[in-house]
Amino acid sequence: MFARLKALPADPILGLLAKYREDVNPQKIDLGVGVYKNEAGHTAVLDCVKKAEQHRTDTEDSKVYIGPTGSPLFNVEMSKLIFGTHKVLLENRARTFSTPGGTGALRVAGEFINKCKSGTTIWVSNPTWANHNAVFEASGLTVKTYPYYDYENKTLDFDGMLAALKEVPADDVVLLHACCHNPSGMDLTNEQWQQVVEVTKSVGFTPLIDMAYQGFGAGLDEDAYGLRLMAENVKEMIVCSSCSKNFGLYRERIGACTLIAETSHSADLVASVLAYVIRGIYSMPPAHGAAIVETILSSTELTTLWHSELKEMRDRINGNRQLLVDKLVENGVTRDFSFIAEQSGMFSFLGITPEQVQQLQDEYSIYMVGSSRMSIAGIANRNVDYLAKSIAKIL
Ligand code: LMR
Repeated sequence: MFARLKALPADPILGLLAKYREDVNPQKIDLGVGVYKNEAGHTAVLDCVKKAEQHRTDTEDSKVYIGPTGSPLFNVEMSKLIFGTHKVLLENRARTFSTPGGTGALRVAGEFINKCKSGTTIWVSNPTWANHNAVFEASGLTVKTYPYYDYENKTLDFDGMLAALKEVPADDVVLLHACCHNPSGMDLTNEQWQQVVEVTKSVGFTPLIDMAYQGFGAGLDEDAYGLRLMAENVKEMIVCSSCSKNFGLYRERIGACTLIAETSHSADLVASVLAYVIRGIYSMPPAHGAAIVETILSSTELTTLWHSELKEMRDRINGNRQLLVDKLVENGVTRDFSFIAEQSGMFSFLGITPEQVQQLQDEYSIYMVGSSRMSIAGIANRNVDYLAKSIAKIL
């Protein structure tokens, strides 16, 4: 049976990481996968996580199954983190389940949508995170795109986006990025969110909001602005969130899928369907990451520590944006890269050709995705001169 198979290419993002690790050039720079790195280039475990893990080790007294919905305390704490003191929580219309990472949340959301209506079309931004397509297609959905990033002007094609959303059939789903758009770094302003919410309401499609980077843009509440506004205005909605980046829990695989229904009663009904879907895929989520997050979020002291560590990560990334723009100018680059400093979150497109991306990799050991998406966290004071000089040369 296996003999019929043909090898498949490595994932464009994860494959890059493997190549980077093999590269022996001491000046190599990893701007590939979206993980936070400190000034030394290390993805350290957060102090609040270390403390929560210690607490967990000291107090955990059982490894018994937790069930498909995951830890109830995690689910409550996550829903507060996502929605704040939102009316959907007061009205008891949201059901949050812990999932294996944000990708797990997207996959169970996809399967859930497919249960609502087989082969539903989901509209994703052009471009979007490369794995969105694979996850939704594997769930049985049809993926279509709406305009989003204007590559030429390095900005949002908001008119194109809005016009396309107005034409989406009412029983389709539209995926929106809550903040820190992956891969473009180009987010909606609050005013643009208001317009998107108006269109969603009037057209009637179901929004699915992916929030993989809460706290990496402008702040925890600021980054959830559009999501919360949407939840205030629609009857049904899905949210997929991740704790990989903001808690630095990448390999622990912890995220959450939230369903918002029209009433508390229908929320129970849809939750039963989601639990059924989960049971058929991985039975129940792992507990460790959820235990860390719930320990942090239910402790004032650890939450305060987490907020300061999150701010440090956010500030470093935002600082890197301006740093790169300044260094490019210093190295005589005349092309305008100021858009990088204006965008938000972990990524921006440098805006060079795939051949130039390859040249940066082959000749300078600088790794970024073929689309020229850079993970801004890989920039540091120790490598930015080399990076800017190398970009200047290939330009
Ligand atoms: C990324 O886009 O680099 C991250 O979300 C990591 C991943 O799994 O692709």
